Amino acid sequence: MNHDYVLKQLSWRYAVKKFDPTKKISDKDWEILEESLRLSPSSYGLQPWKFIVVHNRDILKQLTSLSWGQSQIEDCSHYVVLTTKVKLDEELIDKHVNKTAEVRGLDPKLLAGFKKVMVGDLLNGPRSETIYHWAQRQAYIAMGFIMETAAMLHIDTCPMEGLDPKGYDKVLGLENSGYATVAGVACGYRHPEDKYQNIKKVRFDKDDVFTYIK
Ligand SMILES: Cc1cc2nc3c(=O)[nH]c(=O)nc-3n(C[C@H](O)[C@H](O)[C@H](O)COP(=O)(O)O)c2cc1C
Repeated sequence: MNHDYVLKQLSWRYAVKKFDPTKKISDKDWEILEESLRLSPSSYGLQPWKFIVVHNRDILKQLTSLSWGQSQIEDCSHYVVLTTKVKLDEELIDKHVNKTAEVRGLDPKLLAGFKKVMVGDLLNGPRSETIYHWAQRQAYIAMGFIMETAAMLHIDTCPMEGLDPKGYDKVLGLENSGYATVAGVACGYRHPEDKYQNIKKVRFDKDDVFTYIK
């Protein structure tokens, strides 16, 4: 992958307003997109998320009406809802500690210090008061990863925040699950008639958004 390709794909990507409902992402490509979510980084590596891929037509219809009627949800190939933990608990921290020990062949006791830091910061520290916001931020990193990976594979996306998260939680059966909807990402292929693919990107100048401290 060379520099020109990366820049070309970054410009090629846009938030698709109209997907081609006849075009489907191949299983192999979708597998890579799922991996882009799973491999996304998160604070402490805690992965406070669940990704829900919705194929059910009836549910997609209900989600459309909870998303300002945006057609992307039903017309795209794969619609994924990003959800995160509402509250953080010791259970997730233990799960992460135990998985780390398992994957790296360590005694979990060696990770007691790591656990203590996470508990002190996220469960008992000042950050505990805004922990759902912390969790949501992790989901947005995953959102960026799937969009970027898709663009490199020449697959289109639309990030979707114009939705009713509580309504989604109801339809997706998330109430009382400990997880709540953050946003969605529609993935698929742009419709040739989507006029947004031809309009210029609006971005502030480099000078406007970068400061260099020498
Ligand atoms: C977090 C987030 C939420 C967004 N929600 C929606 C949405 O609900 N519907 C939509 O059509 N576009 C949505 N967008 C797309 C933005 O409007 C779009 O990314 C922005 O205008 C820049 O245009 P571009 O992505 O086409 O370059 C969202 C973008 C982000 C990053």
